[in-house]
Amino acid sequence: MDLMGLQGVSFVFQNSKLDIIDNVSFVAKKGEFVSLIGPSGCGKSTLLRIIAGLIQPTSGKVLFRGREMTEPNSKVSFVFQDFALLPWLTNIENVKIGLSRSDMADETKSKKASQLLEKFGLAGFESYYPNALSGGMKQRVGIARAIASDPEVLLMDEPFSSLDELTANSLRMDIINMLENKKISVNSVIMVTHNVEEAVELSDKIIVLSDKPAHIKRVIKVNWSRPRDKRSKEFADKLDEIYAVLAQD
Ligand SMILES: Nc1ncnc2c1ncn2[C@@H]1O[C@H](COP(=O)(O)OP(=O)(O)O)[C@@H](O)[C@H]1O
Ligand SMILES: [Mg+2]
Repeated sequence: MDLMGLQGVSFVFQNSKLDIIDNVSFVAKKGEFVSLIGPSGCGKSTLLRIIAGLIQPTSGKVLFRGREMTEPNSKVSFVFQDFALLPWLTNIENVKIGLSRSDMADETKSKKASQLLEKFGLAGFESYYPNALSGGMKQRVGIARAIASDPEVLLMDEPFSSLDELTANSLRMDIINMLENKKISVNSVIMVTHNVEEAVELSDKIIVLSDKPAHIKRVIKVNWSRPRDKRSKEFADKLDEIYAVLAQD
């Protein structure tokens, strides 16, 4: 089943008349991890915001479970590159923002937020403020907030790129484990990245975008089980294939 679908999505900034997205169509099936990769400034973040319903495409459609989606939906959540935590709220209050559209009692929200923090290795940090946390811990709060509403689709915009490589690696492994062990509600992930190795490590499908205005240059499938051996020949070959497509005019 297609959880998320884009049909001929194009986007032009009205003020600058700048063409950003050019006729992009793809689907994220149930269980699929999809990466969008492309050069800096090509329109990846804009495309992800369109998929989230935060901005409307100039033409084309975004579908969630086959229905057109024209506004944000609690079943489609967003993880930001720079975490986007509110510094004046404690960690647990930040996670509860993910439940702001739920009609749960406040006590139930607190319980759920606290369980999520625990799941992400942050038990005991509920009443701390984000500034007391390392980057990796902040992003764990950001992901806990995103999955608080039990979303089916998780949209992530370069979620690991503000983290040092060791921290990024352990968070990637945690996400993969949670997805594979069905410990979270998320069925499909769409991740923006400019990190080719990360894309091959995590994705079932890699969508290679062109320079601005972004159109799809190629869709590359990766059908191996996870965790993946980054030192294998097939891994190196896949990296080469993607670099070659990125370099093509
Ligand atoms: N509000 C805006 N108005 C006009 N142009 C914008 C706006 N926001 C971003 N852009 C331009 O849109 C292009 C794509 O931006 P973005 O989606 O952030 O790219 P990416 O995430 O791939 O680096 C960039 O060239 C940027 O300058
Ligand atoms: Mg971006």
